[in-house]
Amino acid sequence: MAAAAPPPAPTEPPTTMPETALPRHPVFTRVRLATPSDVPYIHKLMHQMAVFERLTHLFTATESSYSSTLFSPDNKPFHSFTVLILEVSRNPFTDTQFDNDPCYKPVTRVVNLDLPIDDPEKESFRTRHGNEVFVAGFVLFFPNYSTFLGKPGFYVEDLFVRDSYRRKGFGKMLLTAVAKQAVKMGYGRVEWVVLDWNANAIKFYEDMGAKILQEWRLCRLTGENLEAYGATD
Ligand SMILES: CC(C)(COP(=O)(O)OP(=O)(O)OC[C@H]1O[C@@H](n2cnc3c(N)ncnc32)[C@H](O)[C@@H]1OP(=O)(O)O)[C@@H](O)C(=O)NCCC(=O)NCCS
Repeated sequence: MAAAAPPPAPTEPPTTMPETALPRHPVFTRVRLATPSDVPYIHKLMHQMAVFERLTHLFTATESSYSSTLFSPDNKPFHSFTVLILEVSRNPFTDTQFDNDPCYKPVTRVVNLDLPIDDPEKESFRTRHGNEVFVAGFVLFFPNYSTFLGKPGFYVEDLFVRDSYRRKGFGKMLLTAVAKQAVKMGYGRVEWVVLDWNANAIKFYEDMGAKILQEWRLCRLTGENLEAYGATD
């Protein structure tokens, strides 16, 4: 009797899914200079920031105060208050209005996500720039000066990514854009403050390469204590 053929060698179960089987959800992103028409988004984002930081009792800014102070005709981007806006879309950007901005060439990137983004607030952040484009975050910064370095730097006043868009690399894109601009302008540093309980942001900043300076305390003169100086000789 002929010997039975040996059973076929067991095949190893695949350890990873084939690339084609992974669901991919491309998100088109753009970091660009803000314009006065972005003021309503900036105001909503800043209010969300105040809620997040539990500081709404200190939030008195209005759209009108942002329009007149952030976008006064004297403001020159990167030499005064500067806002970069992060827009996202499921479709490529079709508008070209920012492409030839002499002050800043927008940074675009496609991010492939495993899951689609569920954005319950999207109608409040829908822009007029093309098909289904939404504001997802922003960064506001302006120049300061280091007498130790003998060079200007940037001070970042606010960095905010909306809840639905966090942990996808978007905060990194915004802060990278500021740091890259600082290097381009020959500036010596980029700095900001963070609340001591905001462990997620602290981890994010450390992962971006920032040092947290424990020994420095923020000092602020504001409200009636500031106003009192108006009456001095
Ligand atoms: C802080 C903030 C701007 C970060 O933006 P983000 O888009 O969520 O961050 P990114 O996805 O770019 O994160 C980049 C890296 O930072 C680190 N990081 C970011 N968020 C983190 C978190 N919640 N916990 C731990 N690490 C975190 C990770 O290393 C991350 O890389 P990974 O996702 O590959 O692990 C955003 O969470 C935010 O707006 N938070 C609320 C407002 C706020 O705290 N602003 C800063 C005030 S000072």
